[in-house]
Amino acid sequence: MAEDFNVTLNEAQYYTPDTECKKNSWLGDYEKRYQEFLADPDAYWEAIARELDWFSEWNQVKTWNYPHAEWFCGAATNITYNCLDRHVFNQRRNKVALMWRGEDEGEERVFTYKQLYQAVNRFANGLKKLGVGKGDRVCIYMPVVPEQIIAMLACARIGAVHTVVFGGFGVNALHQRITGVGAKVVITADIGVRRGKAITLKNIVEEAVVNAPSVERIVILRRDDPKIELHSEMEIDYHDLIKGASSECEPEAMDAEDILFILYTSGTTGSPKGIVHTCGGYMVGAYYTAKYIFDIKDNDVYWCTADPGWITGHTYGVYGPLLTGATSLITETTPDYPHPGIWWSLIEEYGITVFYTAPTAIRMFMRTGEEWPNRYDLSSLRVLGSVGEPLNPEAFEWYYRVIGKERCPIVDTWWQTETGMHMITTPIGEPMRPGFAGRPIPGVIADVVDQGGNSVPPGQGGLLVIREPWPSMMRTVYGDEERYARYWNTIPGCYTTADLAVKGDDGYIMVIGRTDDLIIVAGHNIGTAEVESALVSHASVAEAAVIGIPDPLKGNLIKAFVILIDGKEPSEKLKNELVYHVRMTLGPIAIPSSIEFVDSLPKTRSGKIMRRVLKAIELGMDPGDISTLED
Ligand code: WT7
Repeated sequence: MAEDFNVTLNEAQYYTPDTECKKNSWLGDYEKRYQEFLADPDAYWEAIARELDWFSEWNQVKTWNYPHAEWFCGAATNITYNCLDRHVFNQRRNKVALMWRGEDEGEERVFTYKQLYQAVNRFANGLKKLGVGKGDRVCIYMPVVPEQIIAMLACARIGAVHTVVFGGFGVNALHQRITGVGAKVVITADIGVRRGKAITLKNIVEEAVVNAPSVERIVILRRDDPKIELHSEMEIDYHDLIKGASSECEPEAMDAEDILFILYTSGTTGSPKGIVHTCGGYMVGAYYTAKYIFDIKDNDVYWCTADPGWITGHTYGVYGPLLTGATSLITETTPDYPHPGIWWSLIEEYGITVFYTAPTAIRMFMRTGEEWPNRYDLSSLRVLGSVGEPLNPEAFEWYYRVIGKERCPIVDTWWQTETGMHMITTPIGEPMRPGFAGRPIPGVIADVVDQGGNSVPPGQGGLLVIREPWPSMMRTVYGDEERYARYWNTIPGCYTTADLAVKGDDGYIMVIGRTDDLIIVAGHNIGTAEVESALVSHASVAEAAVIGIPDPLKGNLIKAFVILIDGKEPSEKLKNELVYHVRMTLGPIAIPSSIEFVDSLPKTRSGKIMRRVLKAIELGMDPGDISTLED
């Protein structure tokens, strides 16, 4: 458990970037800001909220009935009003909001704020024609194309709740999410493009909507030539839907606490959790961090490489940059296709100034060598961000030196689907400590504690918790209050992150990894339970256990231990079949890198698989306390 480990912290080594950037930053001095927040937390958040537009103001900044918080109580707004109208009717009407780049050179689409506003309104009116209204759930299963973002914003415009499902998920995962939220409409595309190949999405949707009685219509963006046939009972073409639709659509007045979206994240047991975020608090959190942590200014060109199918894409690919009135790039590209220099070429071509990516990508680039980034002019870069898993010191150093040329601060941002926004980082201009994400941002109170919620001394490992509510915190797990309550009652008085961490003498926090059965593969959160149940659903499998094996590139790889049903023989062919089976049910992101056939699995007396023991054996480590082991 957490108390079992101690970390030897080397003497603190800091990288201190150019202080000019701190002087001119939106956040300014970290300490000063943090003290300002502590002096009056509600007033601090209220001042941030006042930077945005509201149709009517709150009568109270926050109410806190443990474990339920409400923020900006009684206020009304619409996030798209703040993402679009506010800019269109002010200075940014003709500013570029969104640039999209496909895989092929020259394949580009650009939207000014005005054009994005019109496209969103048109599609919002189209959705209304299908009978979608406030509170209805809409599932978006699309590749990274402008329409994916337009669809999200169109839902928000009319008060419909979007559930975006990453295009790399398979049939079961999609079905589970569609039925989980009871989606009325599914929005998809015929294909996504990856490494020069068309990946069909529509056939996956066709299977996923079987036995999903809530689904009334499927909207399909047809990209391929010739156009695929549609089945008119259910399916409608994206462009047919918006034909003749007005480019004006009144934004629905949303209560601050109305649901904005539901986004699924892997659970430690059973099914994934539908994390619920609301209109007011989430908007304030996304805006605040995009502006004050990434320090987005009007002449920045911002690029977040995450797919909007993940929370990073929601907050920092879509809502955050638009709320700040930024120009941002989205791409359907893969980091190493057609060559490992593609991303650096895009930084040069678009003059990217603020760049946000994941450690797994950075480590991949380290392998392909400095010569790739060195071919391009990266001098436009100003701020480098990282998210998804710990940024190890070697990757930090490489990112800082090779990409940032020792000029750019690295903001390693720790947060979660549940937190909605950045929580722990090192704001620009502050001394950076490789291996440590940093300190809680002003507005957040984080700590490293023991099981009882008591702070542990510096250098001692413990559980990372958040002590006070914050505006963009999840409000519930959709349809599962009990699962929500567990976040706040596992450690008394605290929100449990389920991450292990260590705090240094300087208050900097090093995040070490998960305490639970989640495996972070290439920055994606995958539940052992999901992979195990996918394996067990194969006719030859009796039982399965899945663990994460540390990997220098992807952070972790999935290893599966499988017990076959009597009469089935282990074979290479069967291994391939199982991998294929997981690919089809959960999608390519969840496939095991290796499968081992075994006769038994270590279990507790109560029958729980002890993955910890499997992992220790696999890594040649001491399995620790095995007193609860069955035999
Ligand atoms: C888990 C949340 C929210 C962003 C993407 C992942 C790990 C995230 C960091 C970081 C160390 C990190 C944690 C966290 N994580 N960022 N900067 N340093 N670990 O969102 O799928 O909800 O996963 O990702 O373990 O709990 P998510």
